[in-house]
Amino acid sequence: MPDWKIEKAPAIHAEMTVPGDKSISHRAIMFAALANGRAEITGFLPGEDCLSTMKAFQQLGIPIERTDETTVIIEGKRGHFTAPSGDIDCGNSGTTMRLMCGILAAQPFRSRLTGDASLSKRPMKRIIDPLTQMGAKITAEGAKGSAPLVIEGGPLKGIEYTSPVASAQVKSAVLLAGLFAKGTTTVTEPVLSRDHTERMLAWHLVRPRRNGLSVSVSGGQTLESRDFAVPGDISSAAFWLVAAAAHPGSHLLIKDVGLNPARTGVLAVLIRMGAHVSEIVEHSECEPSGTVEVRGTKLRATVIAGAEIPNVIDELPILAVAAALADGRTIIRDAHELRVKETDRIAAVAKNLRAFGVLVDEKEDGMEIEGGAKLRGATVESFGDHRIAMAFAILATFAEGASHIRDTACVDTSYPGFYEMLHKLAKPEPSEIPVISSLRPE
Ligand code: S3P
Repeated sequence: MPDWKIEKAPAIHAEMTVPGDKSISHRAIMFAALANGRAEITGFLPGEDCLSTMKAFQQLGIPIERTDETTVIIEGKRGHFTAPSGDIDCGNSGTTMRLMCGILAAQPFRSRLTGDASLSKRPMKRIIDPLTQMGAKITAEGAKGSAPLVIEGGPLKGIEYTSPVASAQVKSAVLLAGLFAKGTTTVTEPVLSRDHTERMLAWHLVRPRRNGLSVSVSGGQTLESRDFAVPGDISSAAFWLVAAAAHPGSHLLIKDVGLNPARTGVLAVLIRMGAHVSEIVEHSECEPSGTVEVRGTKLRATVIAGAEIPNVIDELPILAVAAALADGRTIIRDAHELRVKETDRIAAVAKNLRAFGVLVDEKEDGMEIEGGAKLRGATVESFGDHRIAMAFAILATFAEGASHIRDTACVDTSYPGFYEMLHKLAKPEPSEIPVISSLRPE
């Protein structure tokens, strides 16, 4: 398991792109596999999580060819799959396991989904409950209703389901099952979660109907195969956005990044913290995308809570790092879901912030962070969680003395090449310093 050594770094001055969006890459594979013909996906994230989804569909008899790192050609089979010969290994990927359950619940065969140690601890009852109401037969072999999951697929009926959690994975699993169900399936969420499934179904000419916090699909529809370009992942961009926003003198431009309003809460939080951030949406077909520009400044504390939480759920570790770099006490609450991500991200963030000399008050559903402390280099664990590793790599660039991040192989689940990019930004060769264009004239 490689460790990273990181030193204090100068202000960032760069123009860059980030790898493809993880949530969208998963869905691009799934929807192309469900559709009625051949499609090309470009900008695909070659991270381990999305490769787990790709392999799962290959096991289910879908021809998938990678013509280069980020281009995938898929031959959809109209929702007809063949029984997998062995277990489907979802690796570390909750999205793979939960969304696949929705699809497999309707297939006329048995499948068994497994995951790594972290995924095997994550809650699956949240998808087993609604899918069971639809008529699925799913057995959780793990403790407390977790993976491995055995699915005996069969006919499903549409339901009206009110989800107790704001989770795009739950919503998507139920809607995907709904495509195969008799009648209409409706999911109502307590707060709007990311809407990639709804947008991408519409792109494939299956139009979900939205009514406030509810969304419905009619069963028996076939998706139309269409090429798809995956934009850059704003959750990956968030690490650099915070690094630049919190460092006076920085100037960063990130191009071709996804700007779906259900995912850009991180920009709104940074603006509340005093950051100089602008965004321009350049493409708005299906998934909006464009350019984000940040200029560094001294940040100030904020409150992150309530309906905003699902929008920034994956960015909370790096926003906690922003809070440590800001003046004042930042409050994060209503984020209980962080306890059941790839690791318990509340405990992991609190422990690692303290190692750098930051005062943190851990709460059941969040934390309070006293910003502005003098940071000392530290050795911290990733806890096998990609976003913890990357968030603390960024904090390390602000600390006096060397830091070490342990067990960083997990970063390949969402951001292959992160460490190389960190090096490039921290110590650019003179020939690599770009002339940065600007969204707004100075
Ligand atoms: C995802 C939804 C979120 C997010 C995860 C990806 C998705 O999980 O944390 O990284 O692709 O639907 P929940 O929907 O369970 O909150």
